[in-house]
Amino acid sequence: MDEKVFAGINQSDLDAWIEKVEKLGQLKRITAEVDPDLETSTLTYMVGREEGSPALLFENIKGHPGHKAVYNMIGCNLDRFCIAIGEEPVDHPLEAAQILKDKMHLTEPPVEIDGANALVNQNIETGDDIDITKFPAPRMWPLDGGKYLGTATAVITRDPENDRVNVGTYRQMIKSKDEIGLYTSPGKDAGLDRDKWWAMGKPMPVALCYGIDPLLFVVAATSFAKNESEYDYYGGIGGSPLETFTGDVTGLPLPARAEIILEGHVYPDATFAEGPFGEFTGYYGRPAGETPYVKVEKVRYRDDPTLTCALMADGKANEAGLFWAMLRAAKVWNDLEKMGVPGLQGAWSVPEAAGWGITVVSIKQMYAGHASQAVNLAAQCMGGAYFGKYVIVVDEDIDPTNVNEVLWAMATRSRPSESIDILRETWSTYLDPSLNPPEIRPWGSKCLINACMEYKHINDFSPRTKMSEKMYKAVVERWDEYGLDSDAPNLNVFEDADFPEKV
Ligand SMILES: Cc1cc2nc3c(=O)[nH]c(=O)nc-3n(C[C@H](O)[C@H](O)[C@H](O)COP(=O)(O)O)c2cc1C
Repeated sequence: MDEKVFAGINQSDLDAWIEKVEKLGQLKRITAEVDPDLETSTLTYMVGREEGSPALLFENIKGHPGHKAVYNMIGCNLDRFCIAIGEEPVDHPLEAAQILKDKMHLTEPPVEIDGANALVNQNIETGDDIDITKFPAPRMWPLDGGKYLGTATAVITRDPENDRVNVGTYRQMIKSKDEIGLYTSPGKDAGLDRDKWWAMGKPMPVALCYGIDPLLFVVAATSFAKNESEYDYYGGIGGSPLETFTGDVTGLPLPARAEIILEGHVYPDATFAEGPFGEFTGYYGRPAGETPYVKVEKVRYRDDPTLTCALMADGKANEAGLFWAMLRAAKVWNDLEKMGVPGLQGAWSVPEAAGWGITVVSIKQMYAGHASQAVNLAAQCMGGAYFGKYVIVVDEDIDPTNVNEVLWAMATRSRPSESIDILRETWSTYLDPSLNPPEIRPWGSKCLINACMEYKHINDFSPRTKMSEKMYKAVVERWDEYGLDSDAPNLNVFEDADFPEKV
């Protein structure tokens, strides 16, 4: 195709993000030849476990000349997350969650552009020319059932009843050169859309996008309300609308700056044995199971495309760790704010608990039942309901991102006989390894822990030991004189200024 028609778009959003990340020294280009069969993922796991690990751009992939793949995009790195949401890096994770929470109040719908200007249309294939195995889909873990082209992906579907366009991240295992699985956990939006199309006796139109803007990955992996479109939040969070063009196979709005897009349909009741897949829990979630798949009818990709890949793993190398934690934290906080819960100091989803397992909300208690209200809503709001197991509410002096402080509050302010509630038969997934025998899946349960000072006794609760602010400042002033190796810590929990003088 003529170069000039792409004058409007000469760089993908992913390229723009990679450029910024590289300038910060947080991208490692791997030019040695690597095999997408276990080698890229093994290297990512080994590198990604280290604090501050870089994003990895594989430029020489065995069997896939001209193709590139990026792994550990966000990893456990706050700077790269901030860049993904269009912000300068910040120091504290709660600050980043707060920025994203505030931006989640904004929406801006996508703008339609001429598909002829979209880089992704540099190469278009249909019919017998389609071969999706040309892309460097990895096998991540030894017992994976196949190669997963879709991990850091945006899946576009439409609700046939109200036309809402959904964007979600759902895994996709290659079935054949023009068929690919689409695994949605129960209750996920693309699965609900699919059921509606199938109830009408029609196949569901779907687009699978890779080489996506990390911001599109952010909104795709966030649980927004079921009647809202992630595309609108992309515009709101990013500050400018997503450019889309209409796919002629599906009629869906397709992200113009993605590097690879497959269009096709999911046909009623057609399934195949998909999985297992080494999942975000750090386990193979379930054995191979019957799963719908997409019959691919059109493939579009830019020259020399880059595939976005998300390794699921235990520990820091989990792309669903800090990344998913940030999204869940911001969304829970945003949901509670929208519901008008007062006194919110912050919300967090603990990355150390694989990003999804433990939610913490910090509030300034203002009335009887306030803590119970906050913890129950955090457990069941759209941002927090899926899968999370433990939801903890703490007072305003506890930093919800500081696991040590949260554990201290649980140990000193909760009374197990009074402070714990269990929610049963909650929204969960077949992938939870603890739900046994497997036939009980996908029903989950949640433990709500009130780790606030009991409000009934708030005025006579044993006072917390706090420093004199005056003395703290004096000590900071003299810090160097003490000859300590460390810097003075930045603390802010102080006694009221008028505490009594003592002889
Ligand atoms: C890297 C990554 C992979 C994911 N894979 C799946 C998946 O295979 N199936 C699924 O249902 N959810 C998966 N999720 C979670 C969903 O993306 C998330 O719940 C999101 O809210 C789904 O979009 P929806 O709310 O529009 O359904 C994944 C999340 C991440 C971060």
